[in-house]
Amino acid sequence: MEAGIQELLERAKAAQANAYAPYSKFPVGAAVRDDRGRIFAGCNVENASFGVTICAERNAIFHMVAAGGKRIGEILIVGETDQPLPPCGACRQVIAEFAGGDARVHMVNRAGEVTTATLDELLPFRFHLDDPSRP
Ligand code: THU
Repeated sequence: MEAGIQELLERAKAAQANAYAPYSKFPVGAAVRDDRGRIFAGCNVENASFGVTICAERNAIFHMVAAGGKRIGEILIVGETDQPLPPCGACRQVIAEFAGGDARVHMVNRAGEVTTATLDELLPFRFHLDDPSRP
């Protein structure tokens, strides 16, 4: 495994160990590397009011933003799944807010197998506000 991905995986798994997922029992970890090379991790945090739950990826990205990070270089998501865990649709839109289409998204399963895709592959035709026809 690429050293950079290994480092992200270690940070994501450390956060995953702190996941608060008493309802789904589906702990997720994520780690993002910003444009300055700094790594921020996150886990999912659930709530008795289920809709208030935050996903691991958004938790990691919001940590990056709070620390002054501007752009996502790459992001990794890990879960206890058979297949490498892809980010949910809502998180893809949040990744798009802070990443270009060529940003790499690493998806990892419980066995540590990695699938990498670009944001363009995961979220083509995505929403943005820079439509020139917009008043
Ligand atoms: N979850 C994430 O953290 N990231 C994803 O991309 C998929 C879903 C969390 C939310 C919830 O706590 C649990 O996984 C089950 O949906």
